[in-house]
Amino acid sequence: MNRTGPVTLVGEGIVRRHGGLTAVDHVEVVVEAGTAVGLVGPNGAGKSTLLDCLAGTQPVDGGRVLLDGADVTDAPADRRSRLGLVRTFQRSSVFASLTVEENLRIGAENRHRHGLVRGIVGLPDPGAVAAHCAVVAVLHRLGLGPLAHRPASTLPTGTLRLVELGRALCSSPTVLLLDEPASGLDEAETDQMRDVLVALRDDGLAIVVVEHDLELVRELADRLLVMAGGRLVAAGPTAEVLNRDDVRATLTGAPA
Ligand SMILES: Nc1ncnc2c1ncn2[C@@H]1O[C@H](COP(=O)(O)OP(=O)(O)OP(=O)(O)O)[C@@H](O)[C@H]1O
Ligand SMILES: [Mg+2]
Repeated sequence: MNRTGPVTLVGEGIVRRHGGLTAVDHVEVVVEAGTAVGLVGPNGAGKSTLLDCLAGTQPVDGGRVLLDGADVTDAPADRRSRLGLVRTFQRSSVFASLTVEENLRIGAENRHRHGLVRGIVGLPDPGAVAAHCAVVAVLHRLGLGPLAHRPASTLPTGTLRLVELGRALCSSPTVLLLDEPASGLDEAETDQMRDVLVALRDDGLAIVVVEHDLELVRELADRLLVMAGGRLVAAGPTAEVLNRDDVRATLTGAPA
């Protein structure tokens, strides 16, 4: 298990404004390979906006994003995703009319078919072969094989969350940004999601996870960031931060 890997993703002094509102106000994030950082805070704290800034789905108004030491601040989201920085969304973005396998193929083709490997006339396109292999591996890993040909519209929320994660994994990420992966899941589904995410972390992925389920956060995240009103109000080892009275007050809305 690699828990002291190289720094993979750095968000330095990230700022994002919407009109007069500073949704993210000089926030620092560092995540290393084989570790997970939890990101918690009340509704409207700026958690999803921060993930957007890291993933490139929103531009920053200040600060820098570094991936494996390279500055990707100006790189669009699809380029960051091909470099291994991949996010999932708070609201499910699974295509209901497509099957599980077709949904996964979207993630796989994004990474593998636009790769640098050129095809040879008369032989199968190596990008398509790599994409197919990625889909098969992820279906197996997430236990979705038996559901591969089911339309997403026929599946329960817990399974759709796994499909969404699967699509991200098919892009062969090194850094995963997850926005409330357990939202809408029952207890058994949350346990399954936690086990999958812990295994991915232990396999060497760097994970940033926004989540309101603090038990999941406690088990997955090595370090915890707490945001409120766009600012970082606490950071440190997860158990330590969750034991702080001021953090509990921030998370429950009670006075400190
Ligand atoms: N496109 C936008 N235009 C204007 N304001 C926005 C926009 N997106 C987000 N905001 C505001 O920015 C702040 C941070 O929102 P964000 O969605 O990042 O919070 P969050 O921590 O993810 O909240 P939640 O836990 O409810 O998902 C909120 O005040 C929100 O209303
Ligand atoms: Mg959010």
